[in-house]
Amino acid sequence: MIKNRILSGVQPTGNLHLGNYLGAIKNFVALQQKFECYFMLADLHAITIFQDPQQLKNNVIETAAAFLACGIDPKKNIIFCQSAVPGHSELAWIFNCVARIGWLNRMTQFKEKAGSNKEKASVGLYSYPILMAADILLYKATHVPVGEDQKQHLELCRDIAIKFNNDFNCKDFFQLPEPVIVKEVARIMSLKDGKKKMSKSDDSEYSRINLTDTEDQIIQKIKKAKTDNDLIPSKVEDLNGRDEARNLIGILAILKNQTLEAALKDFSGKNFSEFKNILSDYLIKEIVPIGKKIKEFKKDPNNIKKILKDGAEKANIVSNQTLKDVHNILGLAL
Ligand code: ADP
Ligand code: TRP
Repeated sequence: MIKNRILSGVQPTGNLHLGNYLGAIKNFVALQQKFECYFMLADLHAITIFQDPQQLKNNVIETAAAFLACGIDPKKNIIFCQSAVPGHSELAWIFNCVARIGWLNRMTQFKEKAGSNKEKASVGLYSYPILMAADILLYKATHVPVGEDQKQHLELCRDIAIKFNNDFNCKDFFQLPEPVIVKEVARIMSLKDGKKKMSKSDDSEYSRINLTDTEDQIIQKIKKAKTDNDLIPSKVEDLNGRDEARNLIGILAILKNQTLEAALKDFSGKNFSEFKNILSDYLIKEIVPIGKKIKEFKKDPNNIKKILKDGAEKANIVSNQTLKDVHNILGLAL
């Protein structure tokens, strides 16, 4: 039985932002000390929505550079591109035959991403969580660090593992992976609308802090970030109904490694202008050095390609073994 194996993925769709960093990548960096880690650039997930091919290539380099810049060590961890390991697509097909249509119909992310015109969405966007289950179970990952938006997909992954083990009478072949969701950072919200999550796909640049933002951009974005006219309260309950305020104070608390209560204490009774200056300072301290490192790593794309190639070689070894076992279990191998 594998005890401590992590797999997680980020789509190489550009514009990595504070939500991706606090919700996922920063957590990866902490977990690499204790776990055997597989960190994947989910390019096959990215193409469920049309991607310009040249842009996709650039985004793969950019996202890998961001992993490295944030402190993921390529010597300790396996960093690779999903499409470089064919096992992902093959296991996804097999899981398409295990999962039930009713399960997929409940997935809220598809509903959000497909919007009002579901008939025009790609079939890939619909079966996206099946590929995600394949990503995880191919490596028999025990833990999956993600933001809250991915929780439902992980539950589906567990359902697939349970049904597979039952249908083919192979108890414990797939272990059930545990989500690792850090409550405080599980959902960083848009700077323009405290009810929407911060996202790469938001049309407004002012909705997010990108990892490559300059000092000035951070200052401007925080200055323009939506707040309300009330003063900063002293109690967490008083943030109810004040989504934008809660989000900004929450971000500062995370950056200062404080509880929300402690962050409120420092500012209670004050207005947002002083608070915003301090928040900008903390963001600049954390984000600007990462942006600079991303630029440095991007100057040597061959180094990144080599890291991804080495990662894919190692990932393929594990993937091939799992697929061989799955073929045997299903009666696909003669
Ligand atoms: P996006 O949702 O911006 O398109 P991805 O889907 O590639 O980005 O997400 C990569 C990781 O970042 C996932 O683990 C996801 O849960 C996390 N994540 C994305 N947005 C946020 C957010 N606003 N707050 C917290 N975590 C987030
Ligand atoms: N679907 C995830 C996202 O959009 C990215 C992803 C793909 C992933 N495969 C994964 C995350 C496997 C965790 C495990 O954020």
